[in-house]
Amino acid sequence: MLLGELPTKDDVKFLSESWAQRAQNIPPHAFDVINALPKSAHPMIQFNAAILAMSTESHFRRAYLAGMDKKDYWDPMYEGVMDLISRLPVIAAYIYRRGFHDEQYIDIDPSLDWAGNLAHMMGFDSEEVKRLMRLYMVVHADHEGGNVSAHTTHLVGSALSNPYYSFSAGMNGLAGPLHGMANQNVMNWLQRMMDELGTDSPTTEQVREYAQKTLDSGRVIPGYGHAVLRKTDPRFTVQLDFANKYIPEAPLIKLVKQVYEVVPDILGRTGKVKNPWPNVDAISGSLLSSYGITEYPVYTMLFGVSRALGVLAQLIWDRLYGLPIERPKSQNLEWFMEKVGFNNPAAETK
Ligand SMILES: CC(C)(COP(=O)(O)OP(=O)(O)OC[C@H]1O[C@@H](n2cnc3c(N)ncnc32)[C@H](O)[C@@H]1OP(=O)(O)O)[C@@H](O)C(=O)NCCC(=O)NCCS
Repeated sequence: MLLGELPTKDDVKFLSESWAQRAQNIPPHAFDVINALPKSAHPMIQFNAAILAMSTESHFRRAYLAGMDKKDYWDPMYEGVMDLISRLPVIAAYIYRRGFHDEQYIDIDPSLDWAGNLAHMMGFDSEEVKRLMRLYMVVHADHEGGNVSAHTTHLVGSALSNPYYSFSAGMNGLAGPLHGMANQNVMNWLQRMMDELGTDSPTTEQVREYAQKTLDSGRVIPGYGHAVLRKTDPRFTVQLDFANKYIPEAPLIKLVKQVYEVVPDILGRTGKVKNPWPNVDAISGSLLSSYGITEYPVYTMLFGVSRALGVLAQLIWDRLYGLPIERPKSQNLEWFMEKVGFNNPAAETK
């Protein structure tokens, strides 16, 4: 993602070894910060607190304070980004094992790749789960700069904030229900449907009615819609291909397909939803859950681990290019009143 090229096998080997090595040096206070939070705290709170805590190690902050030519900014940024990316799977697995597996932690295996290691440290050593985790880590990496987590990371980084500050800000955005938290909400929505209907294999008509009821009660159907895409999200499609290949009979996958059959039509009929098609979140949780990672609250955190790849690569480019501090234009109250027609007598009499 940094170079715009697919890596060779040697590149992958170099990167995997480098990240496994860098992941050994996580400052102990990152874990202390996590341990100070209640186990019931949402994984995104624990994840973000640990990311921020690790900024004590920022190469960029140290180099900047020491005095540095701005054309060299990218170098300590690169080091910090590499450290941070390498450490996220360890932090995420720690939070997962702390909350859901009785604090039985599993050490990193330096012979494994980054995503395979995440599955391993979470306690899943089958090749299938490692393969799923690799897919999950690829599809959730940033796909363009305008989404909330990517843009926030870039915006905060534009103040020359270090990679930990910048990424942590982006993760606060990812935790919103219209963004990364949608994957957890999809699962809650599916679970509630199955509970209400008293079956894990409802008829397609029942699914349609349930979806319509959600819409009629003024709520969004999670996992559907997108600010930019106007078709089925290709990240949904590759995950569906994976599911069809390896676990076509899993009840949750069947349910995902039934939802796909009825929801675009329901959303399309509203006449206002610009993209009635499924996004990445419509299926990701069902895949994880079908493979035994059944704790919905960790799904957004796993999304966050992956997202680091794209948004942090962008931060290095921001420094290389010396991009300026971001400052959107703002308007005063008068402008706003005029726009909404408040001071306009004609509008008021309508
Ligand atoms: C992704 C999302 C936030 C994009 O928002 P957006 O760019 O404003 O989307 P649109 O322009 O199509 O929205 C127009 C209207 O359709 C509604 N809409 C969009 N997606 C909808 C959905 N999945 N269910 C119900 N209503 C939806 C919006 O809430 C908005 O309603 P309003 O005019 O009453 O406020 C939106 O589609 C959504 O809330 N999806 C569900 C959450 C989700 O899956 N998020 C993950 C995205 S990757």
